[in-house]
Amino acid sequence: MTAGDSADAHPGLGDGEAPGGNPAVPVITIDGPSGTGKGTLAARLAAHLGWHCLDSGALYRVLGLAAGRRGIDLDDEAALAGLAANLGIGFAAGRVLLEGEDLGDLIRTETAGLAASRVAVHPLVRAALLHWQRCQARPPGLVADGRDMGTLVFPRAGLKVFLDASAQERAERRYKQLMGKGLDANLPDLVEAVRQRDARDRDRPVAPLRAAAGAVLVDSTALSANNVFELVLEEVRRVFPDQFHQVAAD
Ligand code: C5P
Repeated sequence: MTAGDSADAHPGLGDGEAPGGNPAVPVITIDGPSGTGKGTLAARLAAHLGWHCLDSGALYRVLGLAAGRRGIDLDDEAALAGLAANLGIGFAAGRVLLEGEDLGDLIRTETAGLAASRVAVHPLVRAALLHWQRCQARPPGLVADGRDMGTLVFPRAGLKVFLDASAQERAERRYKQLMGKGLDANLPDLVEAVRQRDARDRDRPVAPLRAAAGAVLVDSTALSANNVFELVLEEVRRVFPDQFHQVAAD
């Protein structure tokens, strides 16, 4: 069972948290803007290492969706923080659940991404989600992807990766993905959506998107998902040699 597989409901606010969770648990953080392949990389690394995986963006996406359903304004910080503290979110076998309902692709739309980036600007919302995220650092290890995994949620992570790619390339990847699913897509609109979300994530005063100190910077613009995986795996080998020998020996 991975962190992404725990069907536990969100336990709510956590105060007085030690920064970075349990220091005995090895953590890899993968941060970067939307559409760089962070999620794919995190899931693949976690599967390879047999570690838990945290898709932190899903928390903000579910919160945006839940707020919309309850008619909560995305600028209403107090109401959103209250909702975040009691959010009946669960993860099971790669699926994201809200009050037991499998949300499927509902949280993967551009609209859901933009709503997520709007709820994510509020400090009280981020505080409400912090404890739950840190609790995902459980043995044998955690791979966490998002925007502030290395800077704020797991500042003591053994390996921090910052994955980037040009906005044009990320929009094109998204375009191909949508076309592949037989969905309508417009490339200039997607480029604009990517730029808007980047600007909101980078310019917000709380937990702005930026590379953590000491992060390994990877620009995936001209790299395949395989290239990126191999490159980061080399870093994992370097930072966690024992873990890696264990995997190789299994
Ligand atoms: O990673 P994903 O695209 O699913 O994230 C959706 C949005 O949630 C991001 O654009 C960002 O605003 C927000 N987010 C965040 N901090 C995280 C993960 C996501 O603010 N750790």
